[in-house]
Amino acid sequence: MLRRAGYNIFGIASEDVYIDLLTDSGTSAMSDAQWAGLMRGDESYAGGRNFFHFEETVRKIFGLPHVIPTHQGRVAENLLFSTVLEPGDIVPNNTHFDTTRANVEVNGGVALDLVIPEGREPRARHPFKGNMDLGKLERCLAENRGRVPLVMLTLTNNSGGGQPVSLENVRGVREVCSRNSVPLFLDACRFAENAWFIREREPGQAGRPVAEIVRDVFSLADGCTMSAKKDGLANIGGFLALRDEAWVEKLKNKLILIEGFPTYGGLAGRDLEAVALGLREVLQEDYLAFRVGQVTAFGEALAAAGVPVVEPIGGHAVYIDARAFAPRLPPEHYPGQALTVALYREGGIRAVEIGGVMFGKPDPKDPGREILPDLDLVRLAVPRRVYSNDHLAYVADVTARLHREPEALRGLRIVHQAPVLRHFTARFEPI
Ligand code: F0G
Repeated sequence: MLRRAGYNIFGIASEDVYIDLLTDSGTSAMSDAQWAGLMRGDESYAGGRNFFHFEETVRKIFGLPHVIPTHQGRVAENLLFSTVLEPGDIVPNNTHFDTTRANVEVNGGVALDLVIPEGREPRARHPFKGNMDLGKLERCLAENRGRVPLVMLTLTNNSGGGQPVSLENVRGVREVCSRNSVPLFLDACRFAENAWFIREREPGQAGRPVAEIVRDVFSLADGCTMSAKKDGLANIGGFLALRDEAWVEKLKNKLILIEGFPTYGGLAGRDLEAVALGLREVLQEDYLAFRVGQVTAFGEALAAAGVPVVEPIGGHAVYIDARAFAPRLPPEHYPGQALTVALYREGGIRAVEIGGVMFGKPDPKDPGREILPDLDLVRLAVPRRVYSNDHLAYVADVTARLHREPEALRGLRIVHQAPVLRHFTARFEPI
């Protein structure tokens, strides 16, 4: 199967995967209440009842008055950036997720990552490694007056290891934004997991209801983009929510062009119902304690077996440092990709490489070589409400075994690749 797939796990059929940790996006198991909600779908073109339930839920949870549904998160990003960016504008973020970066860049903008220095170090221990560097943000806004249409913060910081942002840091970012009259938008994909970390780790927040922490965080924002495929506990869906009336008008007109009428936004009515219910369920504290606890226990089991993981463990995934895992393999033989292949071969496990294959670029000075990113990671993302602790203990066992037998990993060379986003379709052969 690996040979047929060109040693790229994206080419493997899901039926042929035992434990699928490719992503936590759209892979949640829906609850009985959500499935029941699907049966109450109102598929009217305009003004369906599920939309009003969805809108009321988003307003209540996030406190943002204008709610625009989209079929997934990247469309919310597309709408926002194609409306507010001028070529040459700058968008600071803790760390842009790939689709966010792409939507900024395709509209002529510059996507700037200003996470604190600890956020870039796999083993630096800091309770909120997703925090924005306030000094750098202040300087960026001072030096680029009139060229920053908005600041973003990604909760949790997916590209930086699923690390949370503290309430104090959101306040700090808000103050810098207010002083410079720049709006603040949150990428809310994993808002509930982020709020849980605030409750667990931030002084003065212990024991507070998670829903209250969420309201506090979002009261500091002018808007948010959301993929309901994560903390919406749904298989599809997303939205853009904001305060500014002038932007809403433009955004809705564009929504009609690319997604659909503003009361369904590219979704079936029943999908809006599943999202509305999922957004409430994700705030249940027994759910969050289990969810974040499960991912932490999984990561700690790996760390205890000597597997080099990004620490502290993030909210939705465990990230393995592949260069440290397989020091024998040179970075240009793609150790992260080699590990994803070995995990599948040895355990039927599917993970995703976030390293040289995903981010490597040809060196303009020497076309035979590549410029590789600083880190070569493998992400084991845990779908919500899908796997038991035993499933993850099995994954930890297989990974620990591979770590003890580093010769089980073979480097790879690329034999075919697309000009952009090559990691989805590249084909390899073992070296
Ligand atoms: N923002 C963040 C932080 C994300 O993690 C994602 C998706 C998006 C935006 C885009 O949302 O997929 O609904 O269009 N992340 C998935 C992942 C794909 O595997 O991490 P989308």
